[in-house]
Amino acid sequence: MLRRLYHEQPESFAFTPANLAWAQSIIAKYPEGRQASAVIPLLWRAQEQEGWVTKPAIEEIGRMLGMAYIRVLEVATFYFMFQLQPTGSVAVVQVCGTTTCMLCGSGDLIRVCKEKIAAHPHEISADGKLCWEEVECLGACSNAPMAQIGKDFYEDLTPERFGEIIDALRAGEVPRPGPQNGRFSSEPLGGPVALAEGHRDLDMNASVTLATRIGDTVKRITGDEPAARTAIAGVGLRPRISPTAESAPTPDVAQVAPQTLAAPIGEGADDLKLIKGIGPELERMLNGLGFHHFAQLGSWTPEQVAWVDAHLEGFHGRIEREGWVEQARQLAEEGETPHSDKKIQRDE
Ligand code: FES
Repeated sequence: MLRRLYHEQPESFAFTPANLAWAQSIIAKYPEGRQASAVIPLLWRAQEQEGWVTKPAIEEIGRMLGMAYIRVLEVATFYFMFQLQPTGSVAVVQVCGTTTCMLCGSGDLIRVCKEKIAAHPHEISADGKLCWEEVECLGACSNAPMAQIGKDFYEDLTPERFGEIIDALRAGEVPRPGPQNGRFSSEPLGGPVALAEGHRDLDMNASVTLATRIGDTVKRITGDEPAARTAIAGVGLRPRISPTAESAPTPDVAQVAPQTLAAPIGEGADDLKLIKGIGPELERMLNGLGFHHFAQLGSWTPEQVAWVDAHLEGFHGRIEREGWVEQARQLAEEGETPHSDKKIQRDE
């Protein structure tokens, strides 16, 4: 299949502050000169945020990673998991059309897609909420026919049940993923013949339990979700739960180190002095700790604020008193605050 950029593109792309902080933490995992290794996770997060991979997103990721745009485009067009055209606002429905699923009835599922979503793959439904495509084997052949919707698998489908799932998604619900015919996982339809006792008390298998708990099946990811925050904490520089710093006042909350960067990325460091309460000395201290961008400060949790506060000798309490996190978030999102405006005018 020919995979090209869509003919209509948005003007620009920017990661949300929390997604930017996450992206920076991913980039920081790789040694100097190897930042291109972060291209797939960054493209994926751009898609999770916007619903598809746009040309401005490809260019922005190229800038962030110091890659030629064409190299990022090559990756985006090579992997089918990247959607290169606008998608439905709720979900992309991906029906497996490979041998096992086809033999078990995926042709009927595609017919349901045509009836309930749109006549052609990648065409967005009239209400703008859904689109569909046929994909190659998704590795759940023992639960054929199946479809991936958002992040999760819906298995053992019949056309009727599949139609109900599509209707529910359209109504804003997220049906429980996993087998739809009463099977726990992929045991024989008549019930397990081995290890029969294992899951007697369980309602859902492990994958469905996790999907239900995280609840991000068809959600756009801004980076503020609890699960995404946990993911940020789990990559790059490992967060350190530190005991109370010797010279700092005892914080009310546990201290957790935020992600830090060895050096600014992209077009260079932000002017942290645009945040009310940060002067040249504090900016130096923050840079020395590995904070160079508004998006980093804007993503701090209370536990991370406690950690940074403990490391700002002589300036304890200032982060919360001056509202750095809110200011940084506003600067990252809107490029200005009333204070930054005044400061820029004063400096001119
Ligand atoms: Fe459909 Fe493998 S053939 S999941």
